[in-house]
Amino acid sequence: GSVVTVAALAVGGLFTWLWTGSQVSTVGEERFGNRLAIPPLAKSSVDEDGTRVFDLRMRAGETEFEPGRRTPTYGFNGSYLGPTLRAERGEKVRVRIENGLGEASSVHWHGMHLPARMDGGLHQSIAPGATWSPHWTVDQPAATLWYHPHPHGVTEQHVRKGLAGLFLLGDERTDRLALPKKYGVDDLPVIVQDVRFDDGELDGGRNIMQSVGFLGDRTMVNGTLSPYQEVGDELIRLRLLNASTARTYAFGFPDGRSFSLVATDGGLLERPAAMERVQLSPGERAEIVVRMRAGERVVLRSFPQDNYGDVWQRRFAGGDDSFDVLELRAAGRLRTSPALPAALGEPETPDGTDAVRGRYFDLKRSGINGRAMDMGRIDETVTRGTTEVWTVRNADGMPHNFHVHDVQFRVMEVNGSAPPPALRGPKDTVFLPNGTTMKLALRFDGPADPDTPYMYHCHLLYHEDEGMMGQFAVVEKGERAGTPTGHADDH
Ligand code: C2O
Ligand code: CU
Repeated sequence: GSVVTVAALAVGGLFTWLWTGSQVSTVGEERFGNRLAIPPLAKSSVDEDGTRVFDLRMRAGETEFEPGRRTPTYGFNGSYLGPTLRAERGEKVRVRIENGLGEASSVHWHGMHLPARMDGGLHQSIAPGATWSPHWTVDQPAATLWYHPHPHGVTEQHVRKGLAGLFLLGDERTDRLALPKKYGVDDLPVIVQDVRFDDGELDGGRNIMQSVGFLGDRTMVNGTLSPYQEVGDELIRLRLLNASTARTYAFGFPDGRSFSLVATDGGLLERPAAMERVQLSPGERAEIVVRMRAGERVVLRSFPQDNYGDVWQRRFAGGDDSFDVLELRAAGRLRTSPALPAALGEPETPDGTDAVRGRYFDLKRSGINGRAMDMGRIDETVTRGTTEVWTVRNADGMPHNFHVHDVQFRVMEVNGSAPPPALRGPKDTVFLPNGTTMKLALRFDGPADPDTPYMYHCHLLYHEDEGMMGQFAVVEKGERAGTPTGHADDH
């Protein structure tokens, strides 16, 4: 009996150590001494056939997050993160990406509807020194999308070193709406990452929690530690992106003020939704509009979360964690902002009534539906031009989320009920705490490419790298999926 007791105590002690190691709070401790960096808008040129062309170079460099301390990092066109790309619906775009790293990588357009060969997933690897130039026509509503590497097994490392950026889409209808839209002025990019410094270096993985992946002990916005931003308008739109590799946040304000959620991952809601918290797991975005009072300082905070499902997850992923993320400093006199429009987007996601089939996805850290990722295997074959209902379930005892490439889907149900307001807009990534089942309606508009799959996966990148990922191909009716091949050759 006593040997067992001692062993149990030892194991319990180890878990306690792991748990407490992941619980942190920066509330009340940030000094907000650094002006927020705003990622520059990427320059582009328009070539003879009207294509908007961007240039991105992936490179290694050094970043001074704290004065006098140089940290080795990766970035696009700079030492950390990347410029903000912007394009309009209907535009043809091409991005020339040069891999200036000493290792292979790839660049995926998270949230973008585009041909599988342009998707930048596992099959579009870019060798060191090589250039890859994917091109497509933007054919989806205005949205806050993003780009990041997707190399098999090392995505977490590449993203954590700094390879991520925003890709903003506009459309005619949205451009006319009375929403704050002056980039960097009343329309602010807010890329949130958690970090931990280890002797001046970005933690190289020593703090990976075996269950969820890397968890840092403080946050940065747009690569700025302890950031503040001066604002001069009554209404401020924050484009929140959770670019952390494992951590989930619940954003809100300490004084409990409500804000208006205007957009989710894939674009505008039908109408603004007032709320006090918005929860974002890795990869998810939310656009919120907050009202400022003249002269005040307001902190964007991430609050403790109570929906992790059980004690294990709460302790592992931060049930008591809270972060002071960004301070907004309002000018003594504010420019008047027009009231938010009562009607925003026109939904383009399917409602599921015309679904031709259902599929079932069981999320486990060891794999999806009992299988770990295999690049040579296409797991699901869907027919171009059809709608499907995917039921996604997490009963694994730890937090997961679910991201599908190429589509924006609609959440039909969460545990048998109608989705809450924060899940009523177009989504490409959803958080599934333990014990959650969601029904999603997805429409696959092609183009068909039986040999080149898209991915679906958990966006806790450590899980993804470990194999919580599968592949689906879009084919013409009656056609069969082929054998996955790499197509990093569309120059
Ligand atoms: Cu944001 Cu498959 O990725
Ligand atoms: Cu996961």
